[in-house]
Amino acid sequence: MSEKTTSSKPLNILIMAAGLGTRMKSNRAKVLHELGGLPLIAHVSRAAQALEPRSIIAIVGHQAEQVEQAVIAEVGELASFVIQAKQRGTGDAVESARNLLEDSDSLVLVLSGDVPMIKVETLKNLIEHHEDSGAACTILSVRLENPTGYGRIIRDENESFQKIVEQRDASEEERQGKEINSGIYCFEAKELFRALRKVEPKNDQGEYYLTDVPEIIMASGGKVSVFVHNDAREVYGVNSRAELAEFENLVRRNAIRRLMIDGGVTFIDPSHSYVSAEAQIGRDSVIHPNVTVEGKSIIGENCVIRSGVRITNSRLGDNVVVKDHSVIIDSEVGANCSVGPFAHLRMNALLEEKVAVGNFVEIKKSRLKRGTKAMHLTYLGDATIGERTNIGAGTVTCNYDGTHKHETIIEDDVKVGSDTMLVAPVRVGARSVTGAGSVVTRDVPPDSLVAGVPAEVKKKLK
Ligand code: UD1
Ligand code: MG
Repeated sequence: MSEKTTSSKPLNILIMAAGLGTRMKSNRAKVLHELGGLPLIAHVSRAAQALEPRSIIAIVGHQAEQVEQAVIAEVGELASFVIQAKQRGTGDAVESARNLLEDSDSLVLVLSGDVPMIKVETLKNLIEHHEDSGAACTILSVRLENPTGYGRIIRDENESFQKIVEQRDASEEERQGKEINSGIYCFEAKELFRALRKVEPKNDQGEYYLTDVPEIIMASGGKVSVFVHNDAREVYGVNSRAELAEFENLVRRNAIRRLMIDGGVTFIDPSHSYVSAEAQIGRDSVIHPNVTVEGKSIIGENCVIRSGVRITNSRLGDNVVVKDHSVIIDSEVGANCSVGPFAHLRMNALLEEKVAVGNFVEIKKSRLKRGTKAMHLTYLGDATIGERTNIGAGTVTCNYDGTHKHETIIEDDVKVGSDTMLVAPVRVGARSVTGAGSVVTRDVPPDSLVAGVPAEVKKKLK
């Protein structure tokens, strides 16, 4: 998918991700907060990886270990890490990678771990612009109607770049400017680290600001270029929960739009539907309000998903109906099945084709073969159930003896009577019948009617 960048020098990518994110008011590092089901840092790491850089260096501090794991999960061995023990500003963050990059004749693309929606194409354009202009530093900027909170790009009377001023350090006049610093830059490595030595913490926060570097580069005769991008949404930074919720909304709306426009999926109420960016839903499926489809779920064609359903990392075949308030997690549902209302499938529940699972039925780590039904008030755990079998209301696989889990096997064409307790490990042979209220403690041979507590064979059926 990713084309090689046009970059002639090797490309190193720095991701700043050491901060706690005070404005999030959280015990969790900001870049670990999730957007569309993935940590913010994962989004940035993906974009970085698509540029095929020589290295991706994440600058970590708060909850370093978890942040590192999140990066590795996306980019694997391409990742390396630098610890910024004390967060003394974005300039100090980049400074911590000095030993790795200072002497290399390379490009350094600086990304912020809290700017998750940046597109690969935009980064490619930034790098291309940087190389064409021969600048030592290129800043990615956008114009915002409401630039509150961002650093402003200050230009002189000829519209040439002068400096970046943080909102809190800006004069009333400077604050009127609508062109903002995205926090994404491309630098010549040597000039970046040369200028960084001169950064001083002379600002309202007493921090070392990376945003001072361009001005310093210019003062020593280097060229600074600004690449103005036209889609401001890509560079929104997440600084508060309110912003995170806005972005979540944006990501979700994009996912749903894609499914409606490209995928032919009907959403009864798109503004009350929740679909991950990775989910796939087939043509002519209908999604009712308040449905959540999470993770890498795949839903087939012509499915109907009624209100209040949650589907997480699961796969549904074509023509499946999931009735109201059912939960399907890490499971698979074959074509033409019906699930719910109020059903719960989890831990590799597998329904083959034409299976029906009804009201208040929980299925864990079990396989129901073709045409089988369990319609009411049932728990099936660690079970394998044959074809065309009927599980009566209130049936329970008693799979747990307090220490270990045990398996239940029910063969084809069995009729399990209402309120049957199957004390595992146990097997019920093909075509057998259990009477209502049976407690089955021993294997049932094929073609037998059993009943009672404990269940005994009452008669042979053939
Ligand atoms: C920064 C820019 C601002 C820009 C905005 C865009 C500075 C001084 N300001 O402001 O001009 O408009 O981004 O989103 O750079 N971090 C560290 N170590 C630190 C401090 C921060 O790793 O010591 C990381 C944070 O974890 C975060 C990123 O750097 O991922 C940006 O830091 P943040 O505090 O969010 O900067 P902003 O105030 O958003
Ligand atoms: Mg920020």
